[in-house]
Amino acid sequence: MSVPLTFAGKVVLITGAGGGLGREYALAFGQRGASVVVNDLGGDIKGGGKSSAAADKVVEEIKSKGGKAVANYDSVEDGEKVVQTALDAFGRIDIVVNNAGILRDRSFGRTSDLDWDLIHRVHLRGSFMVTRAAWNHMKNQKFGRIIMTSSAAGIYGNFGQANYSAAKLGLLGLANTLAIEGQKYNIHCNTIAPTAGSRLTETVMPPDLLESLKAEYVAPLVLWLSHDQCQENGGLFEAGAGWIGKLRWERSQGRIVRHKSQGMSPEAVRDQWDNICDFTNATKPASINESLATLVEVLSRVETGEKISPNPTGATAAPGPSLLDAVGKKLPEMTFSYSHLQCILYALGVGMSTKEDDHLKFLYEGHEDFSCLPTFGVVTSMGALMGGGLASLPGLDFTRLLHGEQYLELFKPLPTSGTLTNQATIADVLDKGSGAIILLDVHTYSGKELLCYNQYSLFIVGAGGFGGKRASAKAVSTVEPPKRAPDTVVTEATTRDQAALYRLSGDWNPLHIDPSFAAMGGFKAPILHGLCSFGFAARHVMKHYANNDVFRFKSMKVRFVKPVMPGQSLETSMWKEGNRIHIECKVKETGAVVLSGAYVDLHAAADDTPDILPEANGLKSELVFAEIGRRIKDIGTELVKKVNAVFGWEITEGGRTVAQWTIDLKTGAGALHKGPYSGKTDVTFTVSDEDFMDVVQGKLNPQKAFFAGKLKVRGNIMLSQKLEVILKDHAKL
Ligand code: NAI
Repeated sequence: MSVPLTFAGKVVLITGAGGGLGREYALAFGQRGASVVVNDLGGDIKGGGKSSAAADKVVEEIKSKGGKAVANYDSVEDGEKVVQTALDAFGRIDIVVNNAGILRDRSFGRTSDLDWDLIHRVHLRGSFMVTRAAWNHMKNQKFGRIIMTSSAAGIYGNFGQANYSAAKLGLLGLANTLAIEGQKYNIHCNTIAPTAGSRLTETVMPPDLLESLKAEYVAPLVLWLSHDQCQENGGLFEAGAGWIGKLRWERSQGRIVRHKSQGMSPEAVRDQWDNICDFTNATKPASINESLATLVEVLSRVETGEKISPNPTGATAAPGPSLLDAVGKKLPEMTFSYSHLQCILYALGVGMSTKEDDHLKFLYEGHEDFSCLPTFGVVTSMGALMGGGLASLPGLDFTRLLHGEQYLELFKPLPTSGTLTNQATIADVLDKGSGAIILLDVHTYSGKELLCYNQYSLFIVGAGGFGGKRASAKAVSTVEPPKRAPDTVVTEATTRDQAALYRLSGDWNPLHIDPSFAAMGGFKAPILHGLCSFGFAARHVMKHYANNDVFRFKSMKVRFVKPVMPGQSLETSMWKEGNRIHIECKVKETGAVVLSGAYVDLHAAADDTPDILPEANGLKSELVFAEIGRRIKDIGTELVKKVNAVFGWEITEGGRTVAQWTIDLKTGAGALHKGPYSGKTDVTFTVSDEDFMDVVQGKLNPQKAFFAGKLKVRGNIMLSQKLEVILKDHAKL
């Protein structure tokens, strides 16, 4: 059993102890051996009147239980007199509990001078006067414990309590400094925000609650904080109902929005606002030194101009860490959620239009072959570049960052909606003399399945010359096109609002929309996103060489050479070399090359290689279809009536269709047969052999498979429900 806390030999002064919480404290201290000064003016809750009765009664109670107590009836505003009572009666003062209080609640507009002043006089000035009177005595005896009584109304604000909230949080400020000044004299000052039923709360709390929130549930905290064993100093605690919690400050990582050459503007503040207010990796500064150290660090970083950290992390952050230190660093994992809306918005952003019939499947979610453009894969990974991603790297000056190259590889077509996870790593850092290149690898997963891989090559102007290597085996290289004339050239105009539209896919850099920002960067107008031109070029390849079949897109690499202005026309030259389509993109009006060394790699078309549709290829799904065939025969016409539809199946392996099946439950003719249907199926499912088995065996929920992009459905999706009739009970297969 632990040793009980006693206060023998200690003199405690509790203000406003004639009732409520103060009385409870006084009784508890009295019971544990302290000599208690019970101060109370004995007025009404608004600060009017005066009476000795309240304090006297509590003193009597303590004495009747064998304790030592004396009354004082002065206002806390007469702090000296209050403390003098302690000195006169007991010869010392060890503990001060500033508790006296009144209320003058008014909505802010109706708060009078008197409402304001009285509240401040009793709560804030009263605590100051009493504490100051005790201070030197505590200092001399090298012991003191001070409690300030704040309130949730001060911490959080409360309607009608502007005067009270201000005074109550003022007490916290007072306590913060007393904790610092008193520390070396063993004077500790802590603040409580109690909640208990009392005459102050009886107008704001229902009677039942008032009754249950007893003052005796707060007193033990006050006693502990007042004990000489307690080393807590400068803390803030909420307490009520028997619960105690500690509060502290949290500070976002913040952003430096000032630059040596460009100064600081409200626009820069606006543009960084989300980052400034983002509490990811927030710090918990506990002293003014930590606050100041941050500013000193920022000053030096802005002044040297070389490595401005977007995230000053206080004194502990190493100034200007080398970019080399970042190699291999994993950035915080980020998720990206999207629906068909983002897919469509992106398609519009990269110039798709209903003017072209074959664009509709990327623009209309009700299209039987609704698909997500493969290059949307760069959008899903974008978060890695934004706040909390790359931005969390110390020593990286974002204002000098240029997007140099991009590589995108898809491992399967992107689903048209989903929640994906991005894992980003600094693959390497290269020293190009005039600047540094950061190779940022981003792997994007749907659950555990890798969907796509992006490699960003980010050029940081002026950050070179650190003695790093010039090339990396990890870099995906650009490839120059063949020397001959291009096989195909496509010219397409961008619109004046192309950048305004494209940015809605998540690249919010004001360079692409804000003329003054563009001017600061040396451009005569906002420029088009490099990744928007990337999307245009990819589309041109997909249309001319892959029949817009998203299954055929494998990967794409480009180098961004020069900017495109919205409204200019893009001229894409293409060369086919096997499954690789080389690309070069120019601005038609100026002839300037904008994308170079670029290519798209395609998967071979299914009809290029008919031999990969084997007869008996050991597919597991064959078994299931055989069983389905038997069942259909058994229940035949009944099923036809019930379902009345033609189902098509495309079974894939490694992204290629390796078997096709048709279940005809409309005409009944043939019922199940292997191979495509001669007419139009009502609904067609595309699924890998493995996933098909998982669905049939109940290991994979078909709906989940659909949303994860594992099961593609073309046509009347509602009919899939009817499939249950056929597939039910196949678990035993
Ligand atoms: P209470 O009204 O029962 O106690 C306050 C006492 O202070 C009264 O006995 C009153 O006569 C005395 N007092 C008022 N003006 C004085 C002055 N100038 N000099 C000396 N004594 C004076 O109220 P309660 O609820 O016990 O409040 C105690 C403290 O806790 C107050 O500071 C209050 O603001 C604070 N508080 C209480 C909460 C609660 O839920 N009860 C919530 C948050 C804060």
